[in-house]
Parts: sequence; structure tokens; C-alpha cells
Amino acid sequence: MSTAYTASPFVGKTFGVTVSHLNKKYGGVPVLRDVSLDVKPGEIFALMGPSGSGKSVLLRHIAGLERATSGEIRIGEFDAADPDTRNKVHLALVFQAGALFNSLSVYDNLALYPREQRLCPESGIRERVMHALNILSLEKAARKFPSELSGGMKKRVAIARALVMEPELMLYDEPTSELDPVMSATISEIIATLREQTAVTTIVVTHDRSLALGIADRIAIIMDGQIKATGKPDEFKQTKDPAISNFLNPVIDLKNPRFKQLENSHE
Ligand SMILES: Nc1ncnc2c1ncn2[C@@H]1O[C@H](COP(=O)(O)OP(=O)(O)OP(=O)(O)O)[C@@H](O)[C@H]1O
Ligand SMILES: [Mg+2]
Repeated sequence: MSTAYTASPFVGKTFGVTVSHLNKKYGGVPVLRDVSLDVKPGEIFALMGPSGSGKSVLLRHIAGLERATSGEIRIGEFDAADPDTRNKVHLALVFQAGALFNSLSVYDNLALYPREQRLCPESGIRERVMHALNILSLEKAARKFPSELSGGMKKRVAIARALVMEPELMLYDEPTSELDPVMSATISEIIATLREQTAVTTIVVTHDRSLALGIADRIAIIMDGQIKATGKPDEFKQTKDPAISNFLNPVIDLKNPRFKQLENSHE
């Protein structure tokens, strides 16, 4: 059993993430273009940008699920593209759609990975799963199946499942999408509290301004596969850049609606 898997609280090592000149093409079409980022150990780093700008693709590269066309990503000193890195860094990716197994109960969804990896005996797995459920206030949902859960509960189960891996790097893809504003704030509080308790480096892809401006140490805006700006939340509150301001504070304009502009650009 790995020594990093300790009893609560989950305080392991913490890693910075450096993305250097990353390019990704699918079938010759560029999706990420010369992306460079430097996420510090223990930081909450929010990645924002319009739909289709390449956020999930970038996160999948950091998680080692895809190979770049060129450039590299380091997690601490390790190459994210090297399969062995997953044995050295406890990395957890909370997927955009939750990716829970519908045929398994909440408990079994959480227990699946530690059982597969034979991380500890069943009693230890039970302790770890119940601890993660407790952190997310989900103890009563342990025997439920995903189809019986609300969207907010599914998101919390997906986070709890990540916690069972005692992560040293947490990657979230749209953790508050489709949630009401109060549940979104709850999830933001959970993400910030987990970082406070465990010092886990956190990269969160989000459209949620409140989350990014409220809990991130720094924010990067990606548009059309390129990093357009990086800075602290306060720097984005008074941005003068029209494209970034239009993204963060879109004003509904019925005299010149955006869907007409899309029609004219023949997208
Ligand atoms: N496996 C793939 N093969 C081909 N193209 C892909 C693949 N994955 C993503 N893309 C394309 O890459 C671009 C970026 O996709 P990505 O999923 O990263 O967007 P996103 O910024 O996460 O958007 P959203 O906010 O809607 O989730 C899109 O044009 C998408 O169609
Ligand atoms: Mg996405």
C-alpha cells in the first residue's frame, strides 16, 4: 500500500503544474495553440473561456488522458504524458458529466477504484468511503443509485469519489454546471475548503463567474485554443479588454442580438 494513503485528513504532497507551449490538433485542426501556464503548488487556478475554446481538452492533457501534438506538461518534476506519472501523483479528475456508474450504488461507485487498485482491506475502504461521504454530507445517500440523485448530489458524489483517491492534484471540469446558484455556491465552498484542509493543487474549468472570482487565486481565460489573459480575480473585475469583458459580463442586446451576428459569420 502506498504510504501517501494515510488516515484523514488527506494531507499528501502537493504539486505545481507547468504547461509549456502545448499544441493539440485533431485531424489537422488546431484546438490548443501554444498554451503555456504555471499553476503553483496549493493554488486554486480557474480556467475560463467560451464553449468549445479547448478547456476540457487541456484538462484531459493535464490528466494524462491525451497526447499533445507538441509541447509538454510537468506535474511537479513529472511528465504528465508519462503513464508512470499516475503512480507517482494522486491525481483526480472530476468529469464534466460526473461519469458515475449507473449500475452501482453511491457507495460502490466510491469503493470501485480502491478495490480495483487493492489499496487496502475492505474495512479500510469502508472507512475511506464513509469519510469522503461525510465530508460531502452524503452519508444518507450511500445506498442510493445515481438515477435516484439530483444533479447537485451527483456532482457531490463525483467529488467524493475523487476524494477517496486522496488526491494531490484535483482537476474539476465544470463542477457547478446545471446547478442552482445556491448549490453552485455550496460546491465552490467545498472546493475551497478541500484546498484549505489538504493544500491540494486545484485546477477548475468553469463558466461560473462567482466560483472563479470567489475562490480562485488566479484565473486564465482561454479563447479559441489560446490563453488570452492570466491574473488575479480583482484584475478581471475591472478588465478593459472588450472580448474578456463581453465574456465575463455579457449584456443582453435585443437591438443587435448575438444570434444574428452568428448567422452573418456563416458559422
Ligand atoms: N476527441 C476529439 N476529436 C476531435 N475534436 C475534438 C475532440 N475533443 C474535443 N474536440 C474539439 O476541440 C474543441 C474544444 O473542445 P473542448 O471540449 O475542450 O471545449 P470546452 O472549452 O471544454 O467547451 P465547453 O465549455 O462547451 O465544455 C471543440 O471544437 C471540440 O469539438
Ligand atoms: Mg468542456
